[in-house]
Amino acid sequence: MSTSPNAVIRLDGVSKRYGQNVTALSGVTLDVGAGEFTAIMGTSGSGKSTLMHVAAGLDSATEGTVILDGVDITSLGDKQLTELRRRRVGFVFQSFNLVPTLNILENVELPIILDGRKPSREERDRIRTLIDRLGLGARVSHRPSQLSGGQQQRVAIARALARKPAVIFADEPTGALDTRSSNDVLAILRETTRDLGHSVVMVTHDPAAAAIADRIVFLSDGQVRADRGNISSDEISRAMLALEPVA
Ligand SMILES: Nc1ncnc2c1ncn2[C@@H]1O[C@H](COP(=O)(O)OP(=O)(O)OP(=O)(O)O)[C@@H](O)[C@H]1O
Ligand SMILES: [Mg+2]
Repeated sequence: MSTSPNAVIRLDGVSKRYGQNVTALSGVTLDVGAGEFTAIMGTSGSGKSTLMHVAAGLDSATEGTVILDGVDITSLGDKQLTELRRRRVGFVFQSFNLVPTLNILENVELPIILDGRKPSREERDRIRTLIDRLGLGARVSHRPSQLSGGQQQRVAIARALARKPAVIFADEPTGALDTRSSNDVLAILRETTRDLGHSVVMVTHDPAAAAIADRIVFLSDGQVRADRGNISSDEISRAMLALEPVA
């Protein structure tokens, strides 16, 4: 397992159980380096979303420690955790999760507004640059329902980046998109995070999506089974098959 001195996420012996019978994660030790783009793969039920939720502080670990942006979140209270998440973490979900009654600009500014303040001049400039860069410059006053799925996901990416998070978590960000919009969204996620130096942890089922990552972590039964660098989608498909028990 890699141990980066400047890990943005550090999981050490993390397990997550639901009730008596379900072990969603079992002894996961994993570092994610600053600026690294990591894909999490594995079959349905292997623990991908659980890993993301526990690493992002959306859910608590049953055992082990989780260090997020240098802070041991297993020792934080709810309020501190919510604050850390809001300031240092961006989320992108399959279903976009935009607010339908707000326009595009308002959606992107939302993480700052939720902090109880107005965007600073620097933040406004950053947001404007992000929106232009994501090809949404002509759409700022439109509502999400007026945009295509790919465009809505780009708004969600701009929103996730608005507060300069240490890390962006994306759970199946292309799951609701056709191939062309998927490629477009992935390229944008890859390029903007590379240029701005953000770490990304992306859960995906799609080998073509995972092929853009610097690193791919394969889960099975709540455990890390393989941890690879950047490999082709064919190699990823083969690695996925190797995880499956032979029926
Ligand atoms: N809130 C919960 N209560 C009980 N069991 C849960 C809960 N959330 C997840 N699980 C179980 O934990 C295991 C891992 O679930 P998880 O959602 O992390 O899988 P996943 O890899 O994201 O799957 P998918 O690809 O289908 O999204 C599964 O067996 C699931 O049924
Ligand atoms: Mg999932």
